[in-house]
Amino acid sequence: MAGHIPREFIDDLLTRTDIIDVIHSRVPLKKAGREYKACCPFHNEKTPSFTVSPSKQFYYCFGCGQNGSALSFLMEYEHFSFVEAIESLANSLGLDVPREQGKRGHNQLSAKRSRDLYDLMEEASTYYQLQLKSKPEAIQYLKNRGLDSQTSKTFGIGFSPDSWDAIKSQLSTHYTVPQLLDTGLLIQKEETGKTYDRFRNRIMFPIRDKRGRVIGFGGRVMGDELPKYLNSPETPIFSKGTELYGFYEARKHTRKLERLVVVEGYMDVIALAQFGISYAVATLGTATTAEHISQMFRAVSDIVFCFDGDRAGKDAAWRAMENALPLLKDDKEIRFLFLDEGEDPDTQVRKSGKESFESLLDSAVTLTDYLINTLQTRHNISTREGKAHLLNDAGKLLQTIPESLIKEQLITTMAKLTNVEPNLIKQHKLTAQSDYYADQRIEPRQVSSRLSDREVRLTPVRYAIALLLNEPKLAEYVENPEKIALYPIDGVNFLAKLLEIFEDSPNLTAANLIERFRGSEYEAPLINLTKWRPSTDDITVLQREFQDCLRQIRKKAHENQLESLLHKERVQGLSPQEKNDLMILLSEMH
Ligand code: GTP
Ligand code: MN
Repeated sequence: MAGHIPREFIDDLLTRTDIIDVIHSRVPLKKAGREYKACCPFHNEKTPSFTVSPSKQFYYCFGCGQNGSALSFLMEYEHFSFVEAIESLANSLGLDVPREQGKRGHNQLSAKRSRDLYDLMEEASTYYQLQLKSKPEAIQYLKNRGLDSQTSKTFGIGFSPDSWDAIKSQLSTHYTVPQLLDTGLLIQKEETGKTYDRFRNRIMFPIRDKRGRVIGFGGRVMGDELPKYLNSPETPIFSKGTELYGFYEARKHTRKLERLVVVEGYMDVIALAQFGISYAVATLGTATTAEHISQMFRAVSDIVFCFDGDRAGKDAAWRAMENALPLLKDDKEIRFLFLDEGEDPDTQVRKSGKESFESLLDSAVTLTDYLINTLQTRHNISTREGKAHLLNDAGKLLQTIPESLIKEQLITTMAKLTNVEPNLIKQHKLTAQSDYYADQRIEPRQVSSRLSDREVRLTPVRYAIALLLNEPKLAEYVENPEKIALYPIDGVNFLAKLLEIFEDSPNLTAANLIERFRGSEYEAPLINLTKWRPSTDDITVLQREFQDCLRQIRKKAHENQLESLLHKERVQGLSPQEKNDLMILLSEMH
């Protein structure tokens, strides 16, 4: 394997690249003040909320929240890996990508640790795919299920050998047993501490995240053994409540998706794709969560849930509906399609073909119809009691829907159905509050085109960092950043680090920093602060505000130091050095 790409090269690459060119050649941009705008390529919208800042070399969509550097853009837009994105930028500048040599082998253990779980899963997936080639029985199984080799390849289908230690011996030259346990590929017996492969003698379906990284697997038996499917457990890189099987493949197939169909199983997603319906996703043996729905709504405004017509399918639909209510908006659509008893999307599409399956999708019932129809089957509304029960159930659901026309319409329909005044339904205080929703509610999404200072919660330290990211030149005005790092205040060491970086290399932009801190604990706060924009460009104003932050930080540091010295003096007394410090601090206070 090639070595590590040196950090200096990535810095240099980003300094020489202009993010405006990179994006403009793919998504035409229009100048708007200091920034550039376009309709977001990552979600459907009519008015542009995708902005690109030339000074920060950073893009951010106020609609869907996508953001990052030129490298992140290429990863999202072209579905490149990190290394591919670097290679692409290097290529357009006519540069070769250098690699650091000689670290591995020299220090086997730390090299092992530095390669992360994503690489491990990728290698496992490659291995399983290779194993499939030498297992005629598995190939035959896929053939019997009508899968062609192209589709099988698109979804990376593989096979795990019938062995207790195949994956372990395959991967343990590059990875440690704890890493293999972390990814759930190995299981450890509690009593003996012995480990064994989780997936044995199964057809393997790699589960990928939105960027295409393998984060888990589903494994199916080829016969009638139980369990039929085995999934990876929750791991540091895999969370079932947020991941959707097939989402990456769908986005990769169609750049600007219009609709998503949610189905129940791996094979449903795959069969639909093979028949040309490349926009199906599946939850991973769990209910559809609000997080799932919110992610889908970032990509499309039309979701169809397509579930089996059996009891389990109906329960799954109801849960999905409940979780979708807090996210309803008048420009979004959710519909439900129930297949005939005994059919699933896999069998249905094989039977009826693409067009007639798509016309089934077109005929799916709307969420509101589904909600009302279901409540009507649950309660006998020819009686007053039945009407009251229905309204009580409806009230709990209505409570979770944001103010919208959809909500008003639902209320009107309920009112007609039960002969009750709409206002009574609105005002009705519910006796039985549903706890279920309390923790499901989603924060309304940020849509204004400028994050206010409050929204990034600007403490003086955070404010200083935010100003610095907008105007790296401000670093010149700080005399000794290394002193700041010693202040007893949260976040100052990070501020000091940024000051040092900008002093050393004044030409770096926010994008460089985001790349330097990619994958570290600083990545998220850094991105959050990069999104913020000052209300003015005026460098003298910014300078004044920056100085003011530093003053506040210094003052706060003094107070904290003073307080802790005074405290120490009371409880255990001070050393001569500390006494001296205290004197200085006290004299500086006045
Ligand atoms: P095929 O029989 O291969 O067509 O699968 P299916 O997708 O039609 O199966 P089914 O409707 O039984 O299951 C739907 C989804 O539920 C699967 O894709 C799995 O994610 C999950 N699932 C099914 N069976 C099991 C099981 O035994 N254990 C677990 N953990 N999940 C399962
Ligand atoms: Mn099936």
